[in-house]
Amino acid sequence: MEFKSILFVCLGNICRSPIAEAVAKMEIDRRDLELTVESRGTSDWHSGEMACDRSIAVCKRNGVDLTPHRARVVTAEDLKKFDLIIALDSKNREDLIEMGAENLYKLGDFGFSGEDVPDPYYFNKEDGFDAVYSMVEKGVKTLLDEVD
Ligand code: 4NP
Repeated sequence: MEFKSILFVCLGNICRSPIAEAVAKMEIDRRDLELTVESRGTSDWHSGEMACDRSIAVCKRNGVDLTPHRARVVTAEDLKKFDLIIALDSKNREDLIEMGAENLYKLGDFGFSGEDVPDPYYFNKEDGFDAVYSMVEKGVKTLLDEVD
């Protein structure tokens, strides 16, 4: 099946899924693919906010500008509009199933045996974000290898 659009979904849409969106866009550009990518949160707790400081910082260290991102809550319309919905952890996945999501996977299904991308919101240290970035990067590359 050919996919034209991917939506990454975490809880707040300020830490993990914005990184996934930014990494995917960079990789899509590099591979010269035609794919639309966005991200959302299952909660509206941070709607309208920028990505969290440590996600912006880890992206900057990896040459990715995350500052344009603004958090948005996922809607039922989003779930219909995007070909592929990618949850960052099991709770996100369950919440999306309740909303009626189809074509739903976890990012960890791509190279991590279904593992959750850990929620870094309460991490104390910056290095947690480096681990999240590298897991997201590997997952996104594996996902794009499969849809390519
Ligand atoms: P995200 O991280 O789901 O990766 O954006 C979180 C952001 C905010 C909260 C939890 C996780 N929060 O509890 O407000």
